[in-house]
Amino acid sequence: MNKEFEGKYAVVTGGAGGISYEAAKALAKKGLSGVVLADLNIEQATESAKKLEEGTGCHCYPCKVD
Ligand SMILES: NC(=O)c1ccc[n+]([C@@H]2O[C@H](COP(=O)([O-])OP(=O)(O)OC[C@H]3O[C@@H](n4cnc5c(N)ncnc54)[C@H](O)[C@@H]3O)[C@@H](O)[C@H]2O)c1
Repeated sequence: MNKEFEGKYAVVTGGAGGISYEAAKALAKKGLSGVVLADLNIEQATESAKKLEEGTGCHCYPCKVD
């Protein structure tokens, strides 16, 4: 695990799906303290955050934004 990202958080816009979800996954695997999936679709963001957290162990938070 890369210590460089410890204590850091990422906010990924459009992170519930598509390219941005893949970016969020890559960040979660880097050892960040948390990743926020900021998306218009809060239902999908909630589902994706749960899946990402289970898959990577990184804290993932859904957030509704436009
Ligand atoms: N998929 C590709 O191969 C590809 C290639 C080149 C460029 N792009 C561009 O990259 C971007 C993302 O592509 P994608 O295929 O991952 O898209 P996508 O349609 O899967 O959308 C990604 C996410 O963005 C969210 N979103 C849409 N409008 C939003 C808003 N106003 N605020 C917050 N969240 C919002 C959606 O709910 C969705 O979860 C697009 O602009 C697309 O044109 C995609």
